[in-house]
Amino acid sequence: MSEPSKPLICLGIEGTAHTVGVGIVDSDGRVLANMRSEYIPGKGGIHPREAAEHHATVAPRLVGDALKTAKLAASDVHVVSFSMGPGLGPCLRVVATAARALSSLLGKPLVGVNHCLAHIEIGRRVMNVADPLTLYVSGGNTIVAAFDCGRYRVFGETLDIAVGNMLDAFGRDAGIPHPGGPKIEKLASMGKKFISLPYTVKGMDLSFSGLLTATSAILKSGKYSIEDVCYSLQEVAFSMLAEVTERALAHTEKVEVLLTGGVAANKRLQQMISIISNEHGASFYVVPMEYAGDNGAMIAWTGLMQFRAGRTIRVEESNVRPKWRLDEVDVSWRDCSGGSQ
Ligand code: ATP
Ligand code: FE2
Repeated sequence: MSEPSKPLICLGIEGTAHTVGVGIVDSDGRVLANMRSEYIPGKGGIHPREAAEHHATVAPRLVGDALKTAKLAASDVHVVSFSMGPGLGPCLRVVATAARALSSLLGKPLVGVNHCLAHIEIGRRVMNVADPLTLYVSGGNTIVAAFDCGRYRVFGETLDIAVGNMLDAFGRDAGIPHPGGPKIEKLASMGKKFISLPYTVKGMDLSFSGLLTATSAILKSGKYSIEDVCYSLQEVAFSMLAEVTERALAHTEKVEVLLTGGVAANKRLQQMISIISNEHGASFYVVPMEYAGDNGAMIAWTGLMQFRAGRTIRVEESNVRPKWRLDEVDVSWRDCSGGSQ
């Protein structure tokens, strides 16, 4: 009698911006390890080279810790994947170098993963959601997307800065330490008075830079409390996101809505997206923070699916892609009905 086949193991390394993470998953969908370390930017915001140095320093230790947590030897790994883009060039290059080295050392195939796609795929996996409309909101991305025949289509996105970046930049102007988002949420919960601020939705796209400038100027004027300013900022920014998400939902007629990315932690945003989902008869899911923020498990899980679809790359083809769009990726492991894992 032959032994039951062992699940495949993929080790994935994430490192597109602040966070470097190492995740290990198996083909039964289990997350065996998900270790991370975050670079904390100074007053001027994220410094790509400093972040990259941080990632280079901690990545080897994280790989060791992840293997230990998963109770695996390096030789048990079948596939090595890494975040190939989009993201900050210096950070991406550090992670790509680490992944190439590991793949060569172990003699195991290499897979380059799109970071935005990985956010959606791990969200679908951990929430057990088949085919959602996704709102992915973080420090570097603001995207409304859904799967349609072989690719994710981007229905709406920011034309300038991401919503999380906007919150963090306003936080810096207001003397709030990084990351601004959680503290702004706390202050906003104590706000009472709504101050009118620029609301910019252009077609299905969003713009947050005018809102940032206006909100910082209003705070500096000294006429309003920080609580009221944060409250108004959240109401306007999140209403913009809700408007675009709702229109995409009406258009796609998806029956599930997935909220992910670091900003998904915000209770007011969750409430707004939950309301529009209910109004359209769609189920609403918020990805837990361990998997909504940047993490290695999402790169490992997506890498494993790409590997099974035969999408490995040679080292010569593994150049990083800082501007790689979600809708450029061929998602051949999902069928047109929206099925698959
Ligand atoms: P990406 O590379 O996907 O753009 P990232 O490097 O920004 O991700 P994440 O952990 O996904 O990392 O998101 C961090 C962002 O989430 C920060 O902008 C932070 O302010 C924001 N954030 C975290 N918690 C909250 C919250 N409670 N309310 C609003 N924003 C939040
Ligand atoms: Fe991310």
